[in-house]
Amino acid sequence: MLYVTGDTHGGTDIAKLNSHSFVENRVLSKNDYVIVAGDFGLVQDFQNEDSYWLEWFQQKNFTTLFVDGNKENFGLLNSYPIDFWRGGKVHRINDSIIHLMRGQVFDFDGIKIFTFGGAKSKGIERKIENGSWWKEEMPSEEEYIEGLKVLERHNWNVDYIITHACPRVALEYLSSQYGIKGKANELHMYFDELNQKVKYKHWYFGHYHLDVSLSDKMTLLFNKVERVI
Ligand SMILES: [Fe+2]
Repeated sequence: MLYVTGDTHGGTDIAKLNSHSFVENRVLSKNDYVIVAGDFGLVQDFQNEDSYWLEWFQQKNFTTLFVDGNKENFGLLNSYPIDFWRGGKVHRINDSIIHLMRGQVFDFDGIKIFTFGGAKSKGIERKIENGSWWKEEMPSEEEYIEGLKVLERHNWNVDYIITHACPRVALEYLSSQYGIKGKANELHMYFDELNQKVKYKHWYFGHYHLDVSLSDKMTLLFNKVERVI
């Protein structure tokens, strides 16, 4: 089985995955997965709090996968060697936690999932580069291109798309209906292009800290844990 949920922000918004909220944990195994749609926030500096929560995830009856958000320590995250898993590039944080890199398609027994993390932080002028903000939060030109090449290889056809940010059309909907503020940037435009070009069943994203079903094909997740497969 595979589930997807929204930002965990280290230990701050992790309660949705405790055994009381996520009761399915009782019947799952390490061959089942929960994907966090960005701002996982637990590969920071391996100080005490990080180790506590990483151990907490080790104890769970599922393997945790995550796409990166805009609040990861990209210096540390990118220091892990790149590995290949289920057809796509990953960083293995430990046996139980795997980072799904940008622009990859992962094959879960015939079900294809395209992942693409990253987003632009607000107020970066008040943040410290490589301390509380990393320029790698936004994709590089190479990552954008890799995403297109990988999708082309899959004939622009996947089952699910999991990202941190969202297409421009989704941002516009969230702005008008939920008062979400934010200007569309190149990542929103890139996702707009994918939204038109790629055939998919459902797109899940995080970042905006709300649970909203935008359409029968697009869901913003925060505290909900949705079963995908
Ligand atoms: Fe977040």
